[in-house]
Amino acid sequence: MTQLDSTPGVSTIKTMSLMSGIQYHKAKPGDGREIVAFMKKHPEVAFCDWQNEIVTHRILTKKTTVAYIATKGKEYVGVAISGVMGSRGTINHLAVDPKYRINNIGNTLIQLCTDEMINYGIRRMFIFTDIHNHGGLSFWKKQGFSITKGEVTLEKNL
Ligand SMILES: CC(C)(COP(=O)(O)OP(=O)(O)OC[C@H]1O[C@@H](n2cnc3c(N)ncnc32)[C@H](O)[C@@H]1OP(=O)(O)O)[C@@H](O)C(=O)NCCC(=O)NCCS
Repeated sequence: MTQLDSTPGVSTIKTMSLMSGIQYHKAKPGDGREIVAFMKKHPEVAFCDWQNEIVTHRILTKKTTVAYIATKGKEYVGVAISGVMGSRGTINHLAVDPKYRINNIGNTLIQLCTDEMINYGIRRMFIFTDIHNHGGLSFWKKQGFSITKGEVTLEKNL
């Protein structure tokens, strides 16, 4: 298992967006419809057909879900959905609107999720991303994530 270099419990990621007028909110169950619509606009996120408003609403009611939205006015500009799974944290989906990228919004959303996980006592986080998503991988490496060695991911449809 890969060991992480970071000091346990310490989050060092920058918090401020470079663009003014961006606000960050914890996602509520009622945000489900807009979150689904936003995620489906970003193909790299691989949001599946079954991840509809009803499923997303249900996920957002769970105490173990950690999800944040970035808005500018009424417009959604970024969303991160993550959660606590047993003793681990997982970032499930992250997208920032292309018009607003490289303004530290993705970074801030992940810091908010990370801080909440740290408060839960979580000390290791995972993300799963496509190996061809070079932009995504660069971003995650900047967040301090490293590619696991000697492991594969297994999955099955239910
Ligand atoms: C990945 C993504 C969320 C980044 O969001 P963002 O708001 O533009 O990222 P930030 O501005 O917070 O960037 C944080 C750092 O990552 C770097 N970075 C972000 N996107 C990058 C890219 N495509 N290539 C290289 N570096 C990148 C930034 O330069 C910045 O570096 P710095 O800390 O040295 O200044 C956004 O590009 C996106 O939505 N992509 C499509 C969906 C996706 O791939 N999601 C991740 C996989 S699930």
